[in-house]
Amino acid sequence: MKTKDWFTDWFNTSYYHILYKDRNDADAQLFMRNITSFLSLPKTTHILDLPCGKGRHAVFLNSLGYKVTGGDLAENSIKYAKKFENENLNFEVHDMRKPFNNTYDSVFNLFTSFGYFEDDAEDILILENIKNGLNKDGFFVFDFLNAEKVKLNLVKEEVKVVDNITFNIKREIKNGFIFKHISFFADDKQHSYTEQVKYLDLPKMTSFLEKVGFKIENVFGNYSLDNYNPKTSDRLIIVAK
Ligand SMILES: C[S@@+](CC[C@H](N)C(=O)[O-])C[C@H]1O[C@@H](n2cnc3c(N)ncnc32)[C@H](O)[C@@H]1O
Repeated sequence: MKTKDWFTDWFNTSYYHILYKDRNDADAQLFMRNITSFLSLPKTTHILDLPCGKGRHAVFLNSLGYKVTGGDLAENSIKYAKKFENENLNFEVHDMRKPFNNTYDSVFNLFTSFGYFEDDAEDILILENIKNGLNKDGFFVFDFLNAEKVKLNLVKEEVKVVDNITFNIKREIKNGFIFKHISFFADDKQHSYTEQVKYLDLPKMTSFLEKVGFKIENVFGNYSLDNYNPKTSDRLIIVAK
């Protein structure tokens, strides 16, 4: 029998949110300001933030005046995000491998929220769902780690103490994936999880996007929207139509 997918468990734990609690809202907000202004998105734009996690980008985009829907597989994150709902801000549990019930003017896939699946066909299915869920001339914004820089600077072992939990982290790149093995002792138990993200560099991601009929309009290397450099950029940010 197939075990539950790693992302279904790990992202739904409180430990995941503890480990990443220093995740920077200021960065998220800077990026959202820059990208909406670069794309000249009118305030009438309906944006889908997929997957939205606890809604940090979605809530901010809504505060800028946009109508926003956030979808995520993690029920706990959606439950949290729902506290911020209003007439123009909605959250729902959604598996991005499933087609949407609605169409959107823009779809944002932010902060390395892609490439979790073994089979390329699942990644391509997600891109197809996004393409079919976009209104005419809609933008797809994709924000991923810069795999080439990660490979050049791989931190193989790291210890992070957050909220009195000692997280032992090991990283490796093999079989086309970047693995992050996370183990820690908490609540009287030893835990271990592995995050697994496909090694998606610009050529590979371009081939995925082109397969479903997306055309790349811009490539940026960070949240200030500077040019992308495969060796030095922090992020791989793609705008496609
Ligand atoms: C790295 S987090 C980023 C979340 C959010 N974009 C942010 O920046 O805070 C990745 C998110 O993907 C969600 N996720 C994983 N697999 C998913 C799937 N098949 N469908 C929808 N969401 C998924 C996880 O629950 C998690 O919230």
